[in-house]
Amino acid sequence: MISPKIQDLLNAQLNREYSSSYAYLAMAAYAESVSLVGFASWLRVQHREELEHALKFYEYIHAQNGRVTLAAIAQPRAEYQSIVEVFEKVLEHEKYITRSIHELYGAAEAEKDYATKTFLGWFVSEQVEEEAAAQLMVDRLGMIGDSKGSLLYLDKEAKKRE
Ligand code: FEO
Repeated sequence: MISPKIQDLLNAQLNREYSSSYAYLAMAAYAESVSLVGFASWLRVQHREELEHALKFYEYIHAQNGRVTLAAIAQPRAEYQSIVEVFEKVLEHEKYITRSIHELYGAAEAEKDYATKTFLGWFVSEQVEEEAAAQLMVDRLGMIGDSKGSLLYLDKEAKKRE
């Protein structure tokens, strides 16, 4: 059993996860458009992960006998200055998601909703990994400067993500 307030917050987070998924797919499309197919592949893996995150919220709301309500997903940004900017935005976005998960966790804590807190614990840990993965990309891209050869090497490395 979850309160109406927690249900609303869970539905809002479900929407954020779908929005993340859509935003990362748009970033992948940008990477494809500049022939950085390895980064595109990395972003598509991220896209799929976000879909899985969204479904975890879907399943949890139903497991608690709640009601899932799907809201509109905004059109994601299509164009970027560079792949560096893409990953800076990935990192920024993941930090935003971390804050939203923490706010939700705080709301569950305030209501003594232990089940929701336990459910959200997985996401709290996941966000540490999500931010670290994005930060690593930003750091590595920052190291190579204008070197096209190094960029292609990193692109190849990015493709290894499964
Ligand atoms: Fe589902 Fe990347 O946070």
